[in-house]
Amino acid sequence: MIENRSPEVYLNLNVRGMGESATLAINERSRQLAAEGRNVYKLGLGQSPFPVPGHVRESLERNAYQKDYLPVMGLAALREAVVAWVKRTEGLDYSMEHVLVGPGTKELMFLIQLVYYGDLVIPSPSWVSYAPQARIIGRHIHWLKTRPESGLGVEPDALEELCERDPNRPRLLILNSPSNPTGNCYDEEQLRSLVAVLRKYNVLVLSDEIYSGTHYTGEHLSLARFYPEGTIISNGLSKWCGAGGWRLGFFIFPPNLAWLATAMAAVASETFTSTSAPIQYAAVTALEDRPEMDEYLLHSRQILAALADHAVKTLRKAGAAIRPASGGFYLFPDFESRRERLAERGIVDSTSLCEALLEQTGVAVLPGDCFGRPVEELSMRIAIVDFDGANALAAAATERIDEAFVKRHCPRVTDAVEKMSQWIQS
Ligand SMILES: Cc1ncc(COP(=O)(O)O)c(C=O)c1O
Repeated sequence: MIENRSPEVYLNLNVRGMGESATLAINERSRQLAAEGRNVYKLGLGQSPFPVPGHVRESLERNAYQKDYLPVMGLAALREAVVAWVKRTEGLDYSMEHVLVGPGTKELMFLIQLVYYGDLVIPSPSWVSYAPQARIIGRHIHWLKTRPESGLGVEPDALEELCERDPNRPRLLILNSPSNPTGNCYDEEQLRSLVAVLRKYNVLVLSDEIYSGTHYTGEHLSLARFYPEGTIISNGLSKWCGAGGWRLGFFIFPPNLAWLATAMAAVASETFTSTSAPIQYAAVTALEDRPEMDEYLLHSRQILAALADHAVKTLRKAGAAIRPASGGFYLFPDFESRRERLAERGIVDSTSLCEALLEQTGVAVLPGDCFGRPVEELSMRIAIVDFDGANALAAAATERIDEAFVKRHCPRVTDAVEKMSQWIQS
């Protein structure tokens, strides 16, 4: 007799019970509320508010005819452009044979976790997809303890404590700067103190620098400057070039890790084959040294910095514990100081906090829980991106970028943060 089994039993155990990524789910709920006619402030999904720069869009148009499959590692001209770009921005020397292009860095991160047999080590909080990728593949995940005083980032003593327990165990640390979700950027002293431990235990690091171009003062520092032999740089067009939907990312390997790039390329050749051809040609243009790009980056950074600064001040007045951001699109406050008052309203953890906030004010943010923070902690990630970036960039060409500017050109974000603060205090 044929058994009537639930279809779930045919799912790989590692993916059973998995929902879609938390950030996409909140976006879906926001969309539903908007469809019901509610005014929804979209501070949930972390997408660049800025358009792709005009000269990069034109390059894509010119290259729309490119139709051939490209080499699995990527278009040679693009890999050369990556090498020139990383030399210009970080002062680092690499060779194009050690650049791997992929359809977004998320896909490349999945591939590296698949081919490298090591535990995943990430700080709490971390970007939402690192841990689920490790879970799908079946890797152990180690969340490092962090402290608010040092920006909730990776600290040498937490790393040392983990590594000394089993010094020879292979590990992959993902270090993200500027950080999603905190907006924190590691400074040179922090990076150097981490390197001492990384070198001692030979830890492989994926340096997720996807927000590098949004560093508010343009002073992004790659870990590869201090730990070149153990660092793989991850970057792409999604954030600082406003092209998330184009799906273009790349990894840069030091020569001693070429074997990893080769293994990843072998898997890539059996899965995605190669990255979209027109997009790769346009990416060459995006990485070129051009005054239009410099101006685009300068103005986007100044707008984000002024907006983050305004939001931090407003949230602090409402009792938030929050550190100023130094890059990226995000803020990560916690409202522990309001715990008793919030508990009277039935709000006891980050999920109930964000659900009530969305239902009662229309402001969509993500619970700290999604980023690996303790479930009961009253933390959240705010993406300060609900504004017309094209309009703000056009205004930035002639207006002073300050608090008044962001109130004028990013009113949905400033209103949302104001609403949120009043609601928390009510
Ligand atoms: C910290 C971080 N890393 C990586 C990614 C993935 O970027 P992409 O796959 O678009 O290159 C994102 C996107 O949200 C991110 O926030």
